[in-house]
Amino acid sequence: MDQTKTNNTAGERETPGLPRHIAIILDGNGRWAKRRGLPRTAGHAVGAENFRKIATYCKNIGVDYLTVYAFSTENWKRPEDEVKTIMRLLRRYLDEAIDTMEKDHIRMKIFGDVAGLSPELRALVAKTDEISRRYEGFQANICLNYGGRDEIVQAAKRYAADLAAGRAEAELTEEGFGSYLYSAGIPDPDLLIRPGGEQRISNFLLWQCAYAEFYFTDVLWPDFDTAELDKAIAVYQSRDRRYGGVKNP
Ligand code: FPP
Repeated sequence: MDQTKTNNTAGERETPGLPRHIAIILDGNGRWAKRRGLPRTAGHAVGAENFRKIATYCKNIGVDYLTVYAFSTENWKRPEDEVKTIMRLLRRYLDEAIDTMEKDHIRMKIFGDVAGLSPELRALVAKTDEISRRYEGFQANICLNYGGRDEIVQAAKRYAADLAAGRAEAELTEEGFGSYLYSAGIPDPDLLIRPGGEQRISNFLLWQCAYAEFYFTDVLWPDFDTAELDKAIAVYQSRDRRYGGVKNP
């Protein structure tokens, strides 16, 4: 990626062409492993490592936010040993990420129903939240035990509770509702990438992707390297974003 095409840290945009927020559905780990005669879980290990590489690259080129879909509310239906491996990888990943966050002043948030996670994972999530409060700059969000519809329902319940308690305005706006979502305070994704060949949103960031540009590729997530990300960004930069309006009416 052309290093001059970055956002500066003062919040001013030098090049409007670089997406400020990229969202990725991490898909294709199982097939990647199967093609190599390996267990599906081996694909998840390579997928987790690839997330580290892509997140570092996003930070280096000046993307402000990267949000990935690592485990959905429906993924519990997978074979027990696969779920266990993914949870173990996430524990290891978060544990190691804590050091990186401190060293590089990175923020990391978990989006999802944290109450449904193990006590060990919940403790790591609390720690990443605490570190994130100290820093500004690049933020990685990992969607874990996450579902887009569930997020909206939980937000509606919390708004209703605040309203009943007199803590919320009766006039609900889109912006006001957005403040009840996991993504409160974060700009919506500009670019949603789905590797792995499927062309659907799979209950990911349903509210936030209202105006995201979609990029689909057959490349499997473990093979989705920085050159593939550059390609996705170049396609995004060729798109004409109108937000429902008309250009040069
Ligand atoms: C989708 O591929 C991938 C998952 C459901 C799990 C993703 C989890 C990780 C990469 C582990 C940890 C993540 C982070 C961010 C540290 P799939 O299994 O559906 O692949 P398939 O479609 O080829 O079967």
